[in-house]
Amino acid sequence: MDFQPSEDQQMLREMVRQFAEKEAQPTAAHRDDEAIWPTELVKKMGGLGLLGVAVNEAYGGAGLDYISYAIVIEELSRVDASLGVIASVNNSLVCYGIEQFGSDAQKREILTSLASGRTLGAFSLSEPGAGSDAAAQKTTAVRDGDDYVINGVKNWVTNGNHADTIVLMALTDPSKGVKGITAFLADTHAPGCSIVKVENKLGIRSAHSSQMAYDNFRVPLWRRLGEEGQGFKVAMSILNAGRIGIAAQALGIAQGAYEAALGYSKLREQFGKPIHEFQAVGFTLADMATRIKAARLLTYEAAWRKDNGLDYTKDAAMAKVFASETAMWVTTKAIQLHGSNGYSKEYPVERFFREAKITEIYEGTSEIQRLVISRELTRA
Ligand code: CAA
Repeated sequence: MDFQPSEDQQMLREMVRQFAEKEAQPTAAHRDDEAIWPTELVKKMGGLGLLGVAVNEAYGGAGLDYISYAIVIEELSRVDASLGVIASVNNSLVCYGIEQFGSDAQKREILTSLASGRTLGAFSLSEPGAGSDAAAQKTTAVRDGDDYVINGVKNWVTNGNHADTIVLMALTDPSKGVKGITAFLADTHAPGCSIVKVENKLGIRSAHSSQMAYDNFRVPLWRRLGEEGQGFKVAMSILNAGRIGIAAQALGIAQGAYEAALGYSKLREQFGKPIHEFQAVGFTLADMATRIKAARLLTYEAAWRKDNGLDYTKDAAMAKVFASETAMWVTTKAIQLHGSNGYSKEYPVERFFREAKITEIYEGTSEIQRLVISRELTRA
């Protein structure tokens, strides 16, 4: 067992850390306050290969492993979790899905530009009535010649209002339930796709999430992802990979909050000494660092299993539930350790705290992760 990151992984971490600290940090709080989409930063991430980290170089990607992908999302989120999720959605919910299930034409025509950052992707499974119960889809796709005609409403589409391509799930045969769902690669520039609203969110406000409507929206046959009726399985497999990305995002948020708390505890003096010298503070820092280390090991191990062709459904769910609950715990403690200053927008920990919450919810709530884990544990 080798716990040492490779030289390439270390160099990648350094490169992403520098980019995040130099380019993203100065505007992170303002973009979050004003919910400003980071147009230039997304372009730069594309140029650095951060939007197609694990995609084969033949299709415009950086051709790296999934541990490297986790490192990228962790380092972005350590500074700005909005950038973390924008990149994570494009990498794992879109590029991975196309590379895994797409045709040669889809890889050539769609994946190459997504992985190289020339275009941006989003993923659309959730609906007003289909959240944790993802199978309760209402959006329909009816075959008409060489097209499908799609009607319905999708919720919480991260990147949706900036995306060129959306991995879109719809019912091609409502009588078959879960086995009647099909996945498509929707071109958002085609007529019939509109943004209903952009959500006003608690955190990750620089990353946008939209409600989107499809009104007699046509998708040509060649853009169907996989076979008719395979859509639910496609979506679940994509989410297995996506959950490693969200675990890495949570890990980065926790790391950022921990570093802020550590720094503050050395500077802040009360009762005549730096507060880290009080055992209550020192022990809190110890618990933060220990939980973060455990979350990192779980996240990298899930990525390692994926890299080695092993089943990782349970491991990705474990990593996500543990890392996201760690992020929530660490960011709560980081505020406490800052006292009143932690409650102020002058310090970064209140943003980390708001960012952490979503990691317990999207790409499957903590309750759904526990359902996935318990089902895998008890599978005959
Ligand atoms: N991996 C692979 N296949 C899976 C799977 C997984 N994790 N989970 C289920 N499947 C397969 C099953 O094997 C089954 O196939 P077979 O019948 O061939 O065996 C099929 O899918 C149906 O499975 P279930 O009977 O288990 O389905 P279910 O209705 O009981 O639901 C669920 C399963 C786990 C609860 C699922 O609905 C789920 O994961 N819900 C959460 C949805 C979610 O994560 N949504 C997030 C949306 S994306 C997002 O957050 C927005 C963003 O932009 C970031």
